[in-house]
Amino acid sequence: MKAWVLEKPGIEHLRLVDRPEPQPGPGEVKLRIRAVSLNYRDPVAIAGGYGSTQRQAELVPGSDGAGEVVAVGAGVTRFKPGDRAVPHFFLDWPAGGASAEFLASNLGGRNDGTFREFACFPQASLVHTPEHLSDVEAATLSCAGVTAWSAIVAHGHVAPGQVVVTQGTGGVSLFALQFAKAAGAEVIITSSSDEKLARARALGADHGINYRAEPQWARRVHEITRGRGADLVVELGGQETLEQSLRAARIGGSLMTIGVLSGPRPALNLGLIVTRGVRLQGVTVGSKAEFEAMLRAMVRHRLKPVLDATEFAFADLKDAIAHLKAGRHFGKIPIRV
Ligand SMILES: NC(=O)c1ccc[n+]([C@@H]2O[C@H](COP(=O)([O-])OP(=O)(O)OC[C@H]3O[C@@H](n4cnc5c(N)ncnc54)[C@H](OP(=O)(O)O)[C@@H]3O)[C@@H](O)[C@H]2O)c1
Repeated sequence: MKAWVLEKPGIEHLRLVDRPEPQPGPGEVKLRIRAVSLNYRDPVAIAGGYGSTQRQAELVPGSDGAGEVVAVGAGVTRFKPGDRAVPHFFLDWPAGGASAEFLASNLGGRNDGTFREFACFPQASLVHTPEHLSDVEAATLSCAGVTAWSAIVAHGHVAPGQVVVTQGTGGVSLFALQFAKAAGAEVIITSSSDEKLARARALGADHGINYRAEPQWARRVHEITRGRGADLVVELGGQETLEQSLRAARIGGSLMTIGVLSGPRPALNLGLIVTRGVRLQGVTVGSKAEFEAMLRAMVRHRLKPVLDATEFAFADLKDAIAHLKAGRHFGKIPIRV
């Protein structure tokens, strides 16, 4: 089989190589991976950016994928050949809160990930692909989808009539838009591009703010909400956005702190948190139980992931990474295996 292997940190050390096909051990399911997708995290991991929390040699990157079961090991009861399945982001985080052990079981960082033609996974780490989703669509769910679900639903408890702000038009943000709309919220989305804002509005966003044209965009959030502020902000920008996110939140509102797109070290006025009683909640993807809850909601609401218009072939992974890093994408970047 073909597999992308990172011999050591640096994209120049990422190579498409031949590897023997893995065979499923007891309790394992062998998947023929039909599609994968990219996350912001993948080029960071390929550059070795997660330091001691990732494997630095001989790593198969990638957390997201979907495919077809081709064989099962002894004792497998939940899957049979021909079933379609998606691996969870973590090999072992079944339910409940995170732990160091669960977080260390991530794919494409600590453990070999999805950028290969065949892979074996413990049956407990797989979910069944919903019928209404293609493999290419299902291959976008496990990182960005579950993270957005955790932010909006599991931690955020977004309710009808609340106001949610989400940042940018990448993978996490557009899933957050979809889940917040399904929960009955009013959604304000930010982007560097008016054209992308128009597309986000066509997907259901109620308001769009260009964060390049309006760097003090929290003011616009207060105009839209008639001075009340947003109930919840999906915080993806990090050091360039945190202050605006805090100002945009209502008194007693929440920030779901997920990404550090512009850097991890904000100059922070703690008074903004204390006097406004804002809750900062860190989010790290989520458990498999939350993944399954998200899929039930996607089936119920017939939700499909938003795919970027450019689909890449497996051999062109490095072109897909360049596309992501250039920020030209809208939603998830699909890669057919
Ligand atoms: N904690 C977790 O569990 C978790 C899970 C998934 C992702 N993340 C993090 O969340 C972030 C987003 O990930 P992703 O995979 O959705 O990325 P992505 O698909 O690459 O999307 C990034 C988008 O964010 C927008 N953006 C870039 N810089 C920005 C800034 N300074 N302010 C506001 N928006 C900005 C851009 O949208 P426009 O082009 O519209 O401007 C860009 O296209 C990353 O930092 C990632 O590491 C964390």
